[in-house]
Amino acid sequence: MILPIVAYGHPTLRKVAEEISPGHSGLEELIENMFETMYSSEGVGLAAPQVNQPIRLFIVDVGPYVQEHPELEGFKKIFINPQIIEQTGEPWVFNEGCLSIPDIREDVSRPPRIRIQYYDRDFQFHDEVYEGISARIIQHEYDHLEATLFVDLISPLRKILLKRKLNDISSGNIDVKYKMIFPARKKKVRA
Ligand code: NI
Repeated sequence: MILPIVAYGHPTLRKVAEEISPGHSGLEELIENMFETMYSSEGVGLAAPQVNQPIRLFIVDVGPYVQEHPELEGFKKIFINPQIIEQTGEPWVFNEGCLSIPDIREDVSRPPRIRIQYYDRDFQFHDEVYEGISARIIQHEYDHLEATLFVDLISPLRKILLKRKLNDISSGNIDVKYKMIFPARKKKVRA
């Protein structure tokens, strides 16, 4: 089932997500629905808060990047209760976007290498190192669990310039091909 994605300004995007336990009710179904939602909106990552679930879970599948970056082949994963425990290297800039903030892309600077500990869908523990674009996607999705959005990481001046566009997104005053929940949409008055 395709789930609606919450738009910029929605309170769930500003909640620090909570850890879940094995046997979390509806987890398998939520993961399946998140993949379906991500593919139908052509995203490469999706965090549970974006589908209005404030829990520590995100998914990635970099399929759309594989042609340009063959080293990413097969990078499809589920991260449960992740903790980034190390970020190293000279920060680099990458042009990021977000399904909750359609039509905005901005250069964001982040360290290139991360070490992350997490559980997979069978609650097996993993401790892994990622670099480059895979690290970048993980950092972006991980930030959603920490209530941080990529537009929080750009310069204050850039953010001022985007203010109106961000307000338009919150109020649903945009064209978007997938289903969204707009927190500031004005209710239609029925006569
Ligand atoms: Ni995002």
